[in-house]
Amino acid sequence: MKKLVIISTLSLSITAIAILSGCTAQREVAAQKSGAELWAQNCIRCHNIPSPTAYNNDEWETIGLHMRERANMTNEQIGKIVEFLQAAN
Ligand code: HEC
Repeated sequence: MKKLVIISTLSLSITAIAILSGCTAQREVAAQKSGAELWAQNCIRCHNIPSPTAYNNDEWETIGLHMRERANMTNEQIGKIVEFLQAAN
């Protein structure tokens, strides 16, 4: 009986470690994405992808704040996207 408890505890911890390291790896991949990639992959989910030249730099700042909420993105991700969009103007 004791053995069974030890074995199940061990396999639970191994599963937990596997899940946790998987998440970290995914987060690292997301962190490496450029503004252009994040823009292409996220800003097309709900509407047509907006052209970088469609708005000026100030407008992109405001839209970035607005779409960060809509798209549920981090400050870092939206920052990269806004930088990319502004660079095109
Ligand atoms: C979860 C859905 C969703 C995602 C993802 C999304 N948008 Fe939007 N977007 C909307 C909606 C809905 C509107 C219409 C205005 C509103 O209701 O907020 C909108 C409107 C806009 C507008 C029109 C101007 C404005 O502020 O109303 C622009 C430009 C825009 N989005 C850019 C982007 C960019 C850039 C991204 C990627 C970072 C993005 N969107 C991601 C839902 C989304």
